[in-house]
Amino acid sequence: MSETRKLFIRTYGCQMNVYDSERMEAALAAQGFETAATPEEADVVLLNTCHIREKAAEKVYSELGRLKALKAARPGMKLGVTGCVAQAEGAEILRRQPAVDLVVGPQAYHRLPAMLARADAGEAVLDTEFPAEDKFDHLPADRRARRAPAAFLTVQEGCDKFCTFCVVPYTRGAEVSRPVARILAEARDLVSRGVREITLLGQNVNAYHGAGEGGEWGLAGLIRALARIDGLERIRYTTSHPKDMDDDLIAAHGEVAQLMPYLHLPVQSGSDRVLKAMNRRHSAESYLRLIERIRAARPDILLSGDFIVGFPGETDADFEDTLSLVREVVYGQAYSFRYSPRPGTPAADREQVPAPVAAERLARLQALLLEQQRAVQEGMVGREVSVLFEKAGRRPGQIVGKSDHLHAVHVDGPDSFVGQVMPVRIIESAPNSLSGRLVAA
Ligand code: SAH
Ligand code: SF4
Ligand code: F3S
Repeated sequence: MSETRKLFIRTYGCQMNVYDSERMEAALAAQGFETAATPEEADVVLLNTCHIREKAAEKVYSELGRLKALKAARPGMKLGVTGCVAQAEGAEILRRQPAVDLVVGPQAYHRLPAMLARADAGEAVLDTEFPAEDKFDHLPADRRARRAPAAFLTVQEGCDKFCTFCVVPYTRGAEVSRPVARILAEARDLVSRGVREITLLGQNVNAYHGAGEGGEWGLAGLIRALARIDGLERIRYTTSHPKDMDDDLIAAHGEVAQLMPYLHLPVQSGSDRVLKAMNRRHSAESYLRLIERIRAARPDILLSGDFIVGFPGETDADFEDTLSLVREVVYGQAYSFRYSPRPGTPAADREQVPAPVAAERLARLQALLLEQQRAVQEGMVGREVSVLFEKAGRRPGQIVGKSDHLHAVHVDGPDSFVGQVMPVRIIESAPNSLSGRLVAA
């Protein structure tokens, strides 16, 4: 084949999938693949999937149905499913949609080029093995000379917590932390290519315990080391579990200037009965005390969370406890979901809350969270924040970026400011963003 083959990856789910897609793209670029703008132009289409809720998983099959027609019109095109649905459903995908050529679980991406070669030879390939080695050590680095100013970097994978609603421990496997030296090298390399902000990723990122100089390092140690990299102006991390917010990490929020005042700390429910049934291993009270300690270390921190409503056994009183917890914390931002029973998880077989009841609770919770989000945004008006400009805005002459509190901020300014952190005075709050004016230096 003389022509360059083109690759299109559609990414669903969490930031870890976004990072994995980048690494897969780099792995196939090393094999000569170029990136296609649409699946219509691609010779290989990969769906990097999410299994967290039923809707997310079902989307994959409808998308595969559409791609099947495309494939029929493009001889030689290969269709693959990667990510958490690949891991969870494996061979079932090949049975349900025979147009699929390869199914690759999240821990097998370093074998992707070899698998693609087998698929090209006409084989239906399935690989959902959890290898002993770190896949990232065997995936080539991204070779783009210039990167967007904000990047993701996975430092930890998998989860040992086994919350009774969640598929992640099954789809991503046991907790593994990447060694400190490899992370620092990758971070330095990102910074050398224009990155100014790194978000450290893990399904349980604050449980990080990677091998480093002198023994195992926690996330706080890793953050302090990253903060010493010249040119790395901002550090964030996500997603965290309340049980793993240790004293050192809380202290880092007060001490490390590069660590941004934003924390995504899911609580799921405000009812101790429900938290116990979820196997969350913390209470509403311990979560609230934790928030107090975090706010003592960093008073202006913006809190974000995840909530599940309609978990099996949740009563009206339990739900009221969730509302009270939310009122007490005051979130700047949050995600809330109706419980979705997932095959193979303990809570899936329990008696379910009737759908209309769960839907009504979700609407009430979302209204409260939205009210808090708006109030927090309104509170930013008149304040000076720092913004890392990431790209040109929709209007000519406009640029957009993220504030230290992760609010999207628009200002009028030249494109040459993209990639820089600059002071901005906030003048207005829109539903999902803020607008401001550059503060003259
Ligand atoms: N590791 C993260 C969560 C990853 S999943 C943590 O422990 O916080 C992201 C969010 O999806 C979860 O926080 C939870 O709120 C939601 N979620 C997970 N499983 C779900 C299910 N079965 N139904 C509805 N929401 C779910
Ligand atoms: Fe899922 Fe997070 Fe619980 Fe792990 S800690 S099982 S990823 S919700
Ligand atoms: Fe979804 Fe897997 Fe992430 S289930 S949320 S893509 S870890």
